[in-house]
Amino acid sequence: MALTLPAHADPLVDRLHTSGLLAELAHGLGGPFHYLLPQAFETNLAAFHSALADAGVEGRVHYAKKANKAAVFIDRCAAQGAGADIASLGELREALGHGVRGEDLVVTGPAKSDALLRVAARHGALIAVDALDELDRVLALRQPRPPRVLLRVHPPAQPRSRFGLGGGDLDAAMRECAEAGDRVRMEGFSFHLSGYDVQQRADLAADLVDLCLKARVLGLQADRISIGGGFAVDYVPADAWQRFIEQQRPADYHADKAFAERDFYPYHSPVAGADALAAVLAARPAGTDGSLAQRLRQAGVMLLLEPGRALLDRAGSSVFTVQGVKDRDRDRDGYGIVTVDGTSLSLSEQWFNSEYLPDPRLLSADAGRPDGPGPYRACVAGASCLDSDLLTWRKIAFPVRPRVGDLLVYPNTAGYQMDSNESPFHELPLPPKVVIDFPEDTGRPRWRLDR
Ligand SMILES: Cc1ncc(COP(=O)(O)O)c(C=O)c1O
Repeated sequence: MALTLPAHADPLVDRLHTSGLLAELAHGLGGPFHYLLPQAFETNLAAFHSALADAGVEGRVHYAKKANKAAVFIDRCAAQGAGADIASLGELREALGHGVRGEDLVVTGPAKSDALLRVAARHGALIAVDALDELDRVLALRQPRPPRVLLRVHPPAQPRSRFGLGGGDLDAAMRECAEAGDRVRMEGFSFHLSGYDVQQRADLAADLVDLCLKARVLGLQADRISIGGGFAVDYVPADAWQRFIEQQRPADYHADKAFAERDFYPYHSPVAGADALAAVLAARPAGTDGSLAQRLRQAGVMLLLEPGRALLDRAGSSVFTVQGVKDRDRDRDGYGIVTVDGTSLSLSEQWFNSEYLPDPRLLSADAGRPDGPGPYRACVAGASCLDSDLLTWRKIAFPVRPRVGDLLVYPNTAGYQMDSNESPFHELPLPPKVVIDFPEDTGRPRWRLDR
């Protein structure tokens, strides 16, 4: 039986896919494109705010802008009172230009450029300082207002992480801030953990609360912590994922390409998004009696978050048109190679020795076409001259043999997939982004280009 990984059903997406609009857009735009659903982004943002409120925790959500370059999401942050996590001057400019206030920005990323530090400080953004030499550069800034900083802590549970200030450096940074007096506002601590472990986050968050108490003794403000992002996204149902992980083997892929389970993002997560935040807040940090939420309240510490992927869950997909189909190894257990009008540079996972696994959905140009005798298995290739340019190495079980002109929709690609690695290789234009809204009065989806 073919291994399938269908994305979770989504009524908004179904409405769009049955509306005929995507075929119109593919025709009008003349190449691949991404569609964005800001309504889903707003739902996710509201869920994060509710998780904070339900736990009785004062907190702020900062959307990790790196996860998608579209303007519409940062617009919605400004409209909904959320902040942004930015890591470059370009991202800072975009966030300010779309109405997020400087004081609602957190500046992350290691060894930030002098220009970024200067502009961030001028706009009152909160700078997560990653190293002692960076702190020196911040302290040397001559600005009308003292720069606001967090000290980013090296995570002991991930000793190989290159980010954050380790033991001795952290103490030195706290002393330097205390000695700098009014030249800096040291507002607390931050970390970013890789992976999705709830307990690890709760444990380190509680350590950061303790650090705040220690820093206050030195006369520092220290009233907030940032626990970064890393709230999982649940792309596919549990049973499909379990079966896939147990059974996948090289013969399931074009050219017998082998992937190990550890190569893949965990496309199924039982606890994801805002529920993962609720779980972190409810968890009992090691060595303490109460929950993390209680600890934050007792210590008067505000919680800052920087989710990227989780805010973009179901908020966009990537649409390609089939440009060619050929059969392969027809005499053996054959399969097809479907070539689309874009490249795998529009699906970032392919560039990390991995594969974006949720099944692409085939939208047939001929809606009345009957299904074939069984699934047609095919990998999906890009329209470039690179042999390794495959959007999907896996032989997908399509309900029928795709035809030239059909659409392939890669679901849920807004978080990091659609544009982090995009490139105009071969002089191919970058796929435009189309914002889709569902006005209540017409019932029909409406579109505009993201600017
Ligand atoms: C400092 C920081 N904040 C936030 C994020 C966003 O993480 P995610 O998209 O998994 O929520 C990252 C991702 O690497 C990060 O490095």
